[in-house]
Amino acid sequence: MNIFTSPEELHAWSIEQKRLGRLVGLVPTMGCLHEGHLSLIREARRHADVVVVSIFVNPTQFAPNEDYAAYPRTEAEDLRLCEAEGVAAVFLPTPELMYPPDASTWVEETRLSKGYCGAQRPIHFRGVCTVVAKLFNLAAPDVAVFGQKDFQQVAVIRRMVRDLNFPIQIIRAPIVREPDGLARSSRNRYLSPEARATALSLSRSLAEAKAEVDAGERDAAKLEGEIRAKTSAAGWIPDYVTVADADTLVPLQTVRPGASVILLACRNGTLRLIDNVLL
Ligand code: PAF
Repeated sequence: MNIFTSPEELHAWSIEQKRLGRLVGLVPTMGCLHEGHLSLIREARRHADVVVVSIFVNPTQFAPNEDYAAYPRTEAEDLRLCEAEGVAAVFLPTPELMYPPDASTWVEETRLSKGYCGAQRPIHFRGVCTVVAKLFNLAAPDVAVFGQKDFQQVAVIRRMVRDLNFPIQIIRAPIVREPDGLARSSRNRYLSPEARATALSLSRSLAEAKAEVDAGERDAAKLEGEIRAKTSAAGWIPDYVTVADADTLVPLQTVRPGASVILLACRNGTLRLIDNVLL
């Protein structure tokens, strides 16, 4: 497995792969890899001949009051997992290599990124789009895989790819859940045993809403109200619970099966979790 820290080395390697006729798949990550990331790598391997995993805790998507410094870093274990998954190259740059001190160019999606998590984290998606655009330029992938867990992120990246004509297929891989339903996340390690138990109210209330939709319910406000009541009763106060169009993220009054999603973010003290379900 190749390990590159230099952007130029990654780029040269990717261009050589393409010259050899190989399809390149990219899985952008911030490390601390878990089963969710491994499912993205496996998905990329199904669509590409060689897979690049980037591991970079991107400073520009964290606000000063967020957990950039404390974000878990588990590099040795991440490399072991990538090797075991048959990853061809890992890109492990430093912030200094990714951002010149006088960097002054941003990539910003201005519509889908403004609500939901973007309302709570105003600079977040600008940082995500900028670093993902840079990774796309460096790795020149044919395919890139992102997790459905960050539903808004995938929608924003798809819009950026469409608007800026990146010749890259974006794949949204399904959420990987713990056996009891909790969506896998690197930040789950911050949960106390009690918060871990009550956090199940998120995935359970979403699953119950989906069952209602499968049984014929179409009233978005009713579904949202039920989810709010259930998570709040468990101590998880919603930032937002919204039935939305799965492509545009525009809120819906009436569920459109096959084209809708329920997006959810809840807080419990300083903890914040997101989850979603396609309807
Ligand atoms: O989803 C993430 O881990 C990050 O937002 C990403 C896509 C790797 C960009 O830093």
